[in-house]
Amino acid sequence: MMNQRSGDRTISADGLRPSSHLRLAEILGSHRDEIGAAWLASVGEADRVQSPDLDRHLNALIGALVRVFQRGDWSDVQLVIDGLVIRRASRGLDLEHDLQRALLAGRHAVKPFLDDDSTDCEEDLLDALHECIFRFSESYQGLRLASESDRLHSRIINSLVMTLEARDPYVKGHSISVALLAQRTAQVMGFVEQDHAYLAGLLHDIGKVGIPDHVLLKPGRPTAEEWAILKTHPAIGARILRPIRLYPEVVGAVLHHHENWDGTGYPYGLSGSGIPRLARIVRVADSFHAITSSRVFRESRSVDEAIAAITGNRGRLYDPEVVDAFMKIVESPNAVDELNMASLQIELGDASIERSEWGYLPRF
Ligand SMILES: [Fe+2]
Ligand SMILES: [Fe+2]
Repeated sequence: MMNQRSGDRTISADGLRPSSHLRLAEILGSHRDEIGAAWLASVGEADRVQSPDLDRHLNALIGALVRVFQRGDWSDVQLVIDGLVIRRASRGLDLEHDLQRALLAGRHAVKPFLDDDSTDCEEDLLDALHECIFRFSESYQGLRLASESDRLHSRIINSLVMTLEARDPYVKGHSISVALLAQRTAQVMGFVEQDHAYLAGLLHDIGKVGIPDHVLLKPGRPTAEEWAILKTHPAIGARILRPIRLYPEVVGAVLHHHENWDGTGYPYGLSGSGIPRLARIVRVADSFHAITSSRVFRESRSVDEAIAAITGNRGRLYDPEVVDAFMKIVESPNAVDELNMASLQIELGDASIERSEWGYLPRF
């Protein structure tokens, strides 16, 4: 935070803010355009070319600094700084040094408006600019750490999915297709966290890695005993995901993706809105894709048959609201092509799962 120097500094009439702060607020507020232009001019040419929107940010920063000097309120400065960091990172610009120089240039832009004897003002301005630089570095480090851990997370998740698909070739492409369908459904339903729907779809069957081969890969219909073993995969999946501290709602969707709207599903026999919403979305996407792809014990059926099976069980197995949203997607002309493309991506090579368009993480 800003240094609080002791000494014989003049305190303003309100007894709260140093008069030098109020003077700076007044100067920055009343000469905003001129200071903005001078600030931009004193930033190096290369920085100006690299950041065509720097003038907008500097202008916003001046306004935010007025609030700092008037009220000690740094929240707007933080917003401007975060915006600068994200905008520049998205263009792959080197953040470390050039912007620090640019921020410090503000000192020269304000100086012509200061009185000769206003050392306090100059020092306070410098303090504030250093605070901006400090906040900038913090924001940048935070962004870098966040995106590194996101990337690591993404790779771990993709490896988990590949582990499952390596064990059970019949599910190849199933995870990504369900992920895609769940994400689109969430989008149509106005779900804010569409990435969570994508992740839940991607990981919903991960617990199958814990099912023995003779049950998982058995040709033909499973026996009652084998069904009982197969039905443990949601709970195994949730157990696998908990240690990596995934979003709780994603783990919940994995645990409950075989619950039925009427309470006849498993593992807990939850019903209606008692089933987590993300799980209800995955339930429909999963069924649709399972019906249209071939399984160990049966051949695939057509998209029309799958649609009939889903709508026929609206309000019985499936959440009516989810079915309605889902139908908007699968009845759109390109839906099936897009699904096939997603599966193809997987078949072309496991590395393709990392392709950004199928990736679940926001990129900067
Ligand atoms: Fe499943
Ligand atoms: Fe599934």
